[in-house]
Amino acid sequence: MTTPRAEWWRSAVIYQVYPRSFADADGDGIGDLAGALSRIDHLADLGVDAVWFSPFMPSPQKDAGYDISDYRDIDPLFGTLADFDAFLAAAHERGIRVIVDLVPNHSSDQHPWFQQALAAAPRSPERARYIFSDGKGPRGEEPPNNWPSFFGGSAWTRTVDPDGSPGQWYLHLFDSSQPDFNWQNEEVREEFRSILRFWLDRGADGFRVDVAHGLVKDPDLPDHDTTRTGAMGGLGNEAPYLAQEGVHEIYRDWRRLLDSYDGDRALCAEAWLPTLAQVALWVRPDEMHQAFNMNYLGTPWDAERLRAVIDESREVFGAVGAPSTWVLSNHDVVRHTSRLALPAEEQSVALGPDSAVLPDPVIALRRGRAATMVMLGLPGSSYLYQGEELGLPEVTEIADDERQDPRFFRSEGEAYGRDGCRVPLPWTADGPSHGFNDTGESWLPQPPHWGSFARDAQIADPSSTLSLYRRILRLRREHGLGTGDVEWMDGAGDDVLAFRNGDVMVLANLGEDPLALPEGHAIALSADLEEGLLPPDAAAWVVPARS
Ligand code: GLC
Repeated sequence: MTTPRAEWWRSAVIYQVYPRSFADADGDGIGDLAGALSRIDHLADLGVDAVWFSPFMPSPQKDAGYDISDYRDIDPLFGTLADFDAFLAAAHERGIRVIVDLVPNHSSDQHPWFQQALAAAPRSPERARYIFSDGKGPRGEEPPNNWPSFFGGSAWTRTVDPDGSPGQWYLHLFDSSQPDFNWQNEEVREEFRSILRFWLDRGADGFRVDVAHGLVKDPDLPDHDTTRTGAMGGLGNEAPYLAQEGVHEIYRDWRRLLDSYDGDRALCAEAWLPTLAQVALWVRPDEMHQAFNMNYLGTPWDAERLRAVIDESREVFGAVGAPSTWVLSNHDVVRHTSRLALPAEEQSVALGPDSAVLPDPVIALRRGRAATMVMLGLPGSSYLYQGEELGLPEVTEIADDERQDPRFFRSEGEAYGRDGCRVPLPWTADGPSHGFNDTGESWLPQPPHWGSFARDAQIADPSSTLSLYRRILRLRREHGLGTGDVEWMDGAGDDVLAFRNGDVMVLANLGEDPLALPEGHAIALSADLEEGLLPPDAAAWVVPARS
């Protein structure tokens, strides 16, 4: 039996594969599981502990796979269950765990249950699996309440009855093709227990749980004060469809189910909430194992604010015996190797060709590298998003007619959406689609400078971002940083982050003047050091020099 602190997920570095954009074996322009398998040694060489796959289940792909029509299979776009089994076996052989994305808040409108619900009468058992309601107004012509969709517009769409007349409305917190399940219904709960078992029986090591704060809604469907509604991160538990007390019971149930399996299976919550104290409720000892620290992700490049969020994270997660789960980039936000060079108030705004402010690419990459060195110097688990190890920037030049994100369409072009962080990876400097496949097809266009970020252009260069990530991960493991602690060091200056984790001193310069490194120490690792000084936007890991 492992001691509690040794559980792998407490300190794991987990790499997010966004399968559409990772590697494409069949050449149709959309990545797949066989492609991922062909690149698995990249992940092993990098030194990650686990891989999280964004959804690969059958889906009409209205929201890039977050609209699932069958929870127990693989979309032919991505391959077959045999491809999943092959990837899992190859990953396990290399000591890499595999985490599946579970989307329990909503299904696709093409899911058989939703199709049955549409065909059935109001208040039927078929409709009770989703959230249907009569409209307001004399003829029910107004939505049942004022809840907004995260992607823009109302969260309600009216159905059409079999005779062609307007019918009830159904709830979708996201796109109209993503109807929300009714988690008050025991049949939904039992179905998801069975889905969890399906993937656990296949050997999955855990789940990233999509919109983990949204499953339960206030059954009275009251209006709420939408003036307090912002982007995903701006909503709190004041909304009657987020962070309702009832969600916790679901995760306690799932925890018991996972605990009945061997091998430390884990759950990670995607729960965007205003305060870390709220997020910590998801990782109480009998609930989930991890919850993304989106508040850390949302903190700008500012030493004081970073110190504060790190301290608060250690405090609130520590109080419930959980690690903090750090993250800087994912498939929903502007890549941190661009974002951190934007003014603080612009950092949650998607970028496009007409954005008022675009990041300076040189500063952005330096900050991105330094930020990674800080994150991976911290104890706890960290998630990496594919391509950050190549220092990929956000792609800002995607034309409107090439965009794919429903957020762009539902906001009528007002929000650029998330395509800029989803562009297929460059593996080779030359060749069709830079080695993403061998046909040159790509579901989002790769920009002209993509080849300079390619894996093969970086692998032999000791100063490349890829070499930096590989060294960071090796040293992190060698020095046990994932299970260490943070001890702030005084006297380094307000614009400097300086802490000790075991025998490693992590220093990052967020100010404007170069910083002298402490004497009597050796530099274990550095990003962008100049003549022995730590220039602005650089970081170093230093260790006591051996005498
Ligand atoms: C999560 C996913 C995002 C998706 C949404 C709806 O936030 O990360 O990509 O659009 O849920 O499923």
